[in-house]
Amino acid sequence: MPAYFHKSVLTAEVLAALRPRTGGRYVDGTVGGGGHAAALLRASAPDGTLLGCDRDGAAVEAAGARLAEFAGRFDIRRGSFAGLDQWIEAGSCDGVVLDLGVSSPQLDWPERGFSFLSDGPLDMRMDLEQELTAAALLRQTGADELAKIFWEYGGEVNSRRIARAIERERETRPLLRTRQLAELIEKVSPRGGRKSHPATKVFQALRVAVNDETGHLRRGLEAAVKVLKPGGRLAVISFQSAEDRVLKEFGDRLSRDYEAEKPDVPELRRPRAAILRWARRKVIVPGAAELSENPRSSSARCRVMEKL
Ligand SMILES: C[S@@+](CC[C@H](N)C(=O)[O-])C[C@H]1O[C@@H](n2cnc3c(N)ncnc32)[C@H](O)[C@@H]1O
Repeated sequence: MPAYFHKSVLTAEVLAALRPRTGGRYVDGTVGGGGHAAALLRASAPDGTLLGCDRDGAAVEAAGARLAEFAGRFDIRRGSFAGLDQWIEAGSCDGVVLDLGVSSPQLDWPERGFSFLSDGPLDMRMDLEQELTAAALLRQTGADELAKIFWEYGGEVNSRRIARAIERERETRPLLRTRQLAELIEKVSPRGGRKSHPATKVFQALRVAVNDETGHLRRGLEAAVKVLKPGGRLAVISFQSAEDRVLKEFGDRLSRDYEAEKPDVPELRRPRAAILRWARRKVIVPGAAELSENPRSSSARCRVMEKL
């Protein structure tokens, strides 16, 4: 296996948001290569602690090795942040960071199947013990449902045309390889004047669907708020507008002092205390220095909430 390397994004901004202190207890729900985790452990020395998880076993292994210098101060497990509240005591943590999406090794290692730039199996699982792969999803999902996935999770405007082409293709041969899918998309949805490759949005959408990223995010946000102490903060870095919408909707809902059904009828609101507040009204984006040093940070957006 090649070396695991992921360059963390918005690290200074995450530290400024979570304000780590000596003796504090922090959670990294997407430990990846351990960059944010190391920064939190360093800033909370000598006795701050960190609980972490990642769905990807390779990340857990790499982070464990990277954090060796902090031995005794961290506990990292394989698993989704959606289950944080099943192993971390409610109300016990000072800060939680979630850095959503995929790591550089997931994108760069062809055998993981996340990228159309090199050929690999259509896998895309973050957790290799999960059964559903991208190839299985493409085999067992009808064209209408595929089109919905490409549109909702990728914003792909040619979603129907691409879904129908996939349906035709799989009648003659199974779709098993990343380049096979990318070439099919190139044929039915040429690049035209677009800057990005025509397969970009479909690959993103498939990845979100295979890993049920939206479902995990919704459950993970609830779990993160549960494990925080009052005054504890949650920083979430997202890379796609659909994720940012979920995040914004979650923060707005929990910062209101009432519950409401949809549509929101003022007379039917049920009053309750607000659960959190936005620690920063505005979304945090990378500065010019980070953008020039790490082009993959260009779509990163960080939002910060504080539990009341
Ligand atoms: C952008 S990387 C995180 C990088 C990390 N912050 C660092 O500094 O190295 C995203 C990581 O989140 C993991 N991930 C995505 N969804 C997850 C979930 N629901 N639960 C746990 N880990 C998840 C991915 O496997 C990947 O390793």
